[in-house]
Amino acid sequence: MSTSAEDRSALLAIAVDIAREAGRVAAEGQAGIDVLDTKSTPTDVVTEMDRAVEELIRERVLARRPDDSVLGEEGADETGSSGVRWIVDPIDGTVNYLYGREDWAVCIAVEAEGRTVAGVVAAPVRGDLYTATLGGGAYCNGERLAVAPPVPLDMALVATGFGYSARRRAQQAEVLRTVLPRVRDIRRGGSAAVDLCGVARGRTNAYYERGLNPWDWGAAALIAQEAGARVGGLHGAPPNPDLTIAAPPGLFEELHDLLAGLGADTDGPEGG
Ligand code: IPD
Repeated sequence: MSTSAEDRSALLAIAVDIAREAGRVAAEGQAGIDVLDTKSTPTDVVTEMDRAVEELIRERVLARRPDDSVLGEEGADETGSSGVRWIVDPIDGTVNYLYGREDWAVCIAVEAEGRTVAGVVAAPVRGDLYTATLGGGAYCNGERLAVAPPVPLDMALVATGFGYSARRRAQQAEVLRTVLPRVRDIRRGGSAAVDLCGVARGRTNAYYERGLNPWDWGAAALIAQEAGARVGGLHGAPPNPDLTIAAPPGLFEELHDLLAGLGADTDGPEGG
């Protein structure tokens, strides 16, 4: 389905309604939350709330748009006929959520013709609601977002994150060993979506991470892009699980070239 600016705004309005409700429910459930299950490793956790919030979002989307598809981190995988797909991370930053920390977010991206056309990242404990539509700009709580003014790599505050497997982390530490002395400093916030929104808001200059999934970057990559960042993988690829980089043009290329040379899109010589 090809979308007009009005279609995108209408889809965003639905996403915002649902993300606000989901964020409220998740925030109310944070105190005293415990681990329900684990995924790729014992530290890759799922809480009862990850599942309950994803189910709530799935139900709300399909109640309003029954012919759409829904893909979610916790397993939602509905295929509809409309050509519109909702990509959902019920709680990005689950470990922060588990530890009673503030930086976690409900993320909803809406895709049409394979492109993200609307996205919302709700970080309810922070009181931040980030939104964007393709071509329509990015906002936080209604205020227009713009990336920080350009800086060279050695003056850049760079956010990153780490995967859950020991092998991947060993390689990420190797990459960081070279990156750290070449930048202003590093931040590890614990939510890829909040990190990408941080670039959009000028709270960091750049962000990179290996191992993200479409639900981690979907909404937030559009927000960063609409705020003026370039968001992509290596060598002209779109954001992908091998590597996602976000930074204003110029800094993006500098960071890209450094990371490409370090094998930041691999798990090291033995890990592939
Ligand atoms: C994780 C967070 C974290 C990032 C991990 C992600 P989850 O998402 O975004 O910051 O470093 O790569 O898996 O598991 O909390 O939804």
